[in-house]
Amino acid sequence: MNANTDNKDPIATPNHTPQLQAFRDIVESRRSVRRFTDTPIPDDVLADCLRLAMLAPNSSNLQPWEFYVIDDADNRKRAIKNCMNQNAAKTSARLIAIVARTDIWHEHAQQILREYPDQPVPKKK
Ligand SMILES: Cc1cc2nc3c(=O)[nH]c(=O)nc-3n(C[C@H](O)[C@H](O)[C@H](O)COP(=O)(O)O)c2cc1C
Repeated sequence: MNANTDNKDPIATPNHTPQLQAFRDIVESRRSVRRFTDTPIPDDVLADCLRLAMLAPNSSNLQPWEFYVIDDADNRKRAIKNCMNQNAAKTSARLIAIVARTDIWHEHAQQILREYPDQPVPKKK
């Protein structure tokens, strides 16, 4: 009996679930893109991408980041220069600057405590 086809086998295998296979396909087929087409990216698609990006795991869920969509022509020019005029930046339909805000972790920690779903926040043991 093959472990991959035996549904009673509780051990995770490469073909354990279709979701796992789909994830493997994405990881194995993903490539860095360095030249983009001029297909426009609508605001709602961009907003969805940003929402997904902000689901990224991060230390203590402090989310010490800010995302800036750079659509203004002058700012775009300056951003492309900061990207060393690489083709990926030059040909991108939309540019996003992601800023690491290492200075706001305390403020975000306070917010997590304020918005903790089970108030009062459980004490540390
Ligand atoms: C943090 C980070 C910075 C990168 N910076 C650049 C870059 O400035 N220019 C570039 O052409 N590729 C950049 N890359 C892409 C890598 O060169 C690429 O991931 C690597 O060559 C493997 O290729 P693949 O992503 O197609 O598998 C960067 C990747 C990471 C993770």
